[in-house]
Amino acid sequence: MNFQLTEEHEMIRQAARDFARTELLPGVIERDNEQKFPAEQIKKLGELGFMGLMVSPEYGGAGMDTISYVLAMEEISKIDASASVVMSVNNSLVCWGLETFGTEEQKQKYLVPLATGQIHGAFCLSEPEAGSDATSQRTTAIDMGDHYLLNGTKNWITNGNTASVYLVIAQTHVEKGHRGINAFIVTKDMPGFQVGKKEDKMGIRGSDTHSIMFQDVKVPKENRIGEDGFGFKFAMKTLAGGRIGIAAQALGIASGAYELALAYSKERKAFGTEIKNHQAVAFKLADMATEVEIARLLCLKAAWLKDNKMDYATASSMAKLFASECAMRTTTEAVQVHGGYGYVKEYHVERLMRDAKITQIYEGTSEIQRVVIARDILS
Ligand code: CAA
Repeated sequence: MNFQLTEEHEMIRQAARDFARTELLPGVIERDNEQKFPAEQIKKLGELGFMGLMVSPEYGGAGMDTISYVLAMEEISKIDASASVVMSVNNSLVCWGLETFGTEEQKQKYLVPLATGQIHGAFCLSEPEAGSDATSQRTTAIDMGDHYLLNGTKNWITNGNTASVYLVIAQTHVEKGHRGINAFIVTKDMPGFQVGKKEDKMGIRGSDTHSIMFQDVKVPKENRIGEDGFGFKFAMKTLAGGRIGIAAQALGIASGAYELALAYSKERKAFGTEIKNHQAVAFKLADMATEVEIARLLCLKAAWLKDNKMDYATASSMAKLFASECAMRTTTEAVQVHGGYGYVKEYHVERLMRDAKITQIYEGTSEIQRVVIARDILS
């Protein structure tokens, strides 16, 4: 077993770290306050290859492995989790889904601009009444011969307004249950496509979350992904990889908060000494460092399994479950270490604490991850 990163992995980590510090850190507090999408920064991330990190160079991607993706996600998320969720959805849910299951035509037409960062995408599974219970899709896609007629509403869609390409999950054959679900490539310019209300969120406020409505949208037959009825499996397989990205995002939020608390403990004095010299603080830092390391190992293990073409669905759920709960605990403790300063925006940890919460909710709640893990270990 080798825990050492390759030179290439170290380089990608350093590049992501540099980008986060120079391009994302300035203005991150303002973007959070104003709910401003980091448009310029996402454009630059695309130019540097971060929006299609794992896509093969044949389709305009950087051709890197999932380990590189985890390293980059951690570094970007330490500074700006609103930017990293855009990157994660585009990489894991949209590009991976298209490259793995799309036709050559779909890849040329949609994957290339997505992987090169000219545009970015969104993944539309959740509905007002189908979040965790993803098989209960109410959005319908009726087969009309040469096209499907799409009707329904999707909720909490990351990149809802800024995306150009949307992978939409919808029910075609109600009588077949989840085996009658399909996945489609839908573009914003299709008549009947409408972007709904923007969500005013607790955290990741710079990311752009909207409901999306479809009213008699004509989706060409060639925009269906995979065989008829493959849509639910498409969503589950795609989410299994997506959960590695969100686990790495949670890891970054946790390690960012830990690093801030560590630095602060060396500067702030109380009772005549730096607060790091008080065991009450030192023990918190020891727990934070240990948990962050466990989260990192779980993320890297899930990534390694995926890169080595082994089953990774349970490992990715374990990584997401632990890393997201670790992010919540670590950011809460980082605020505590900062005392009153931790409760104000200037010190960043309060934002990280708000950002941490969503990692326990999206791409499957912590409860859903436990369902996936329990089913595997009990089967
Ligand atoms: N790979 C392949 N197939 C899978 C699979 C996987 N990882 N997981 C399940 N399936 C298949 C099953 O084999 C089954 O197929 P068959 O019946 O043909 O054998 C089918 O999917 C249905 O599976 P289940 O019977 O297990 O379905 P279920 O209704 O009991 O629920 C669930 C499964 C795990 C709870 C699932 O509904 C789930 O993951 N829910 C959470 C959804 C989610 O993560 N939503 C996130 C939205 S996207 C998002 O957040 C993006 C963003 O913007 C950031």
